Amino acid sequence: MMIYERIATGGCQSYLLGCSETCAAVVIDPEISQVNRYLGLAARDGLRIRYLIDTHTHADHFSGTRQLAHQLGVPVVMHRESPAPYVDMRLDDGDLILVGELRIQAIHTPGHTRDSMCLLTEDRLFTGDTLLIGATGRTDLPTGDPEALYDSLFQHILRLDPSLKVHPAHDYKEQRHSTIAQELAGNPRLQKQDRAAFVEMMRSLNLTMPTHITEALRSNMSGGKTVAQMLSEAAATVPFMSLDELKGRVEAAEEDLIVLDVRERDAYEQGHIPRARLLPRGQLELRVNDDLPDPTRRILSYCEFGRISTLATATLREMGYRRAVALDGGMKAWRDANYPLKSGSAP
Ligand SMILES: [Fe+2]
Repeated sequence: MMIYERIATGGCQSYLLGCSETCAAVVIDPEISQVNRYLGLAARDGLRIRYLIDTHTHADHFSGTRQLAHQLGVPVVMHRESPAPYVDMRLDDGDLILVGELRIQAIHTPGHTRDSMCLLTEDRLFTGDTLLIGATGRTDLPTGDPEALYDSLFQHILRLDPSLKVHPAHDYKEQRHSTIAQELAGNPRLQKQDRAAFVEMMRSLNLTMPTHITEALRSNMSGGKTVAQMLSEAAATVPFMSLDELKGRVEAAEEDLIVLDVRERDAYEQGHIPRARLLPRGQLELRVNDDLPDPTRRILSYCEFGRISTLATATLREMGYRRAVALDGGMKAWRDANYPLKSGSAP
């Protein structure tokens, strides 16, 4: 018996599959913001995740395979054409992955990307972005190839058992799943069964670029971190102070508190929190010895929106300022609340 969970992140679909006999499990196309959800679902269902599979190099979402692999100590699996250096197990067409009693077969289906594969297990086919419900993956992103997609679809996938359930990596219409037979009958992109007509149709789709494509490709192809990851990792290591709390402490002229404006000089001079000192984030490490000689002081950092100050506070903590805190919010929120401002140059 297969345990099946579908996890949606916007239009992106990921799947947790488990073997009920052995409690081994696999996650297909995990998304980075859902890492805790996969772990929670696996724990709830009594499953242990053994493999993390990406069906292809995603250009439209941030893969969570590396974070899960790091936490769980299990391999990241992709097709051998994947450019990502962090892949632990590279598959060839036809290879099987054993997940307890489950057999998951990789079918190489280039077209959407060169490293695309579909995953076949029991009565289900996880199609990545090769075959979507009522559509196909696009072929205009890096390594996409409409001729290859035609072959992958018409020579391989669509010749499989028509009753197979189709589970794509994208589904914007909440259709959940379909079957090969239903797609053959009703998918508008599959009605052009002639190669040249199919290729021509794919080349003339003129789709808009996915959001975050540059960052997604950078992170998914290199294993590097996203901006959101850098911020959430920093935020996890620092405490915050609320706007109201800070206002009260500034008004009480609390002696012990150093308020640090980590924006650039011109922003500081246009208006800053009373008593704040200027120490731009870019100069932080090189100026702390002169500007902040006492590491036991309580230091609150703020910036315009609360992101740069989170990074600055994490850096201060790393450097031994154990009472460094970041403002929960930033100058924008402070101004919007009509809290007191001071302008002019730094003392
Ligand atoms: Fe994709």
